[in-house]
Amino acid sequence: MADAPHSRLEAWLRYCEELGLGPFYRDRTRPALPSTPAPASAQTRQPDPGPRPASIPAPVAAAPSLFDVVESVPEDSLERIRADLGDCTRCRLHRSRTKIVFGTGNPRAELVFVGEGPGHDEDQQGEPFVGRAGQLLTQMIEAMGLRRSDVYICNVVKCRPPENRTPERDEIATCAPFLQRQLAVIRPRVIVCLGAVAAQTLLGFHASISRIRGQWYDYRGARLLATYHPAYLLRNPSAKVEVWSDLKQVMAALGLKPPPPRPRQRR
Ligand code: URA
Repeated sequence: MADAPHSRLEAWLRYCEELGLGPFYRDRTRPALPSTPAPASAQTRQPDPGPRPASIPAPVAAAPSLFDVVESVPEDSLERIRADLGDCTRCRLHRSRTKIVFGTGNPRAELVFVGEGPGHDEDQQGEPFVGRAGQLLTQMIEAMGLRRSDVYICNVVKCRPPENRTPERDEIATCAPFLQRQLAVIRPRVIVCLGAVAAQTLLGFHASISRIRGQWYDYRGARLLATYHPAYLLRNPSAKVEVWSDLKQVMAALGLKPPPPRPRQRR
């Protein structure tokens, strides 16, 4: 027999709690879910197709999305998210990590950078973007007239994938709710996704970074722009031109002016 919607919701909430999300409270400002699904004919104006064959499950009222659930966690904070993450063993990445890399910077930042996952240096130090790619990111931030402490920097996965491989789907799915909560707490005006993994995770679709970079998307009311990952720039310095053009769009969106050029040093 098919599960009733409420027992599926219960299972979903249990799963979320295992991920460290919760406890949950009903948000009474949201309309209640309909107890019976709206008839398809009311939505599409098509004639009633008659009884449904047994093999096709009846539609159920849409379960709340993870974000509906996340948004209804009252008084969430970065400290609480970090505490919920704990000494995480939810996915296989914990086995080879040294330190969890949660995120760093201004908890009220207007601008958040989201990378893929910690590398060797970040794993050692417990801080995002402190290796070579991180130094380049710091230069990019400073070229925008900002300091690292003005922005917030974090990653999709909080533990280093072995050999710096790309995080796998299930690892991303396990860790992404923590990123979503971080973004829900910080409420930045602009999110810059560094590379395809961050962009695909937050946008929820697959596309190559070269196709989606430099364009604005909406992420839960924030403006989201994807650009090349600084590690890619280390291998392909000519792509810095495109990244700078992307960052200039971010500066315009935030009303930032580039700092005056530094005087050249005499040799
Ligand atoms: N690359 C990332 O995606 N994140 C880091 O923190 C460091 C390198």
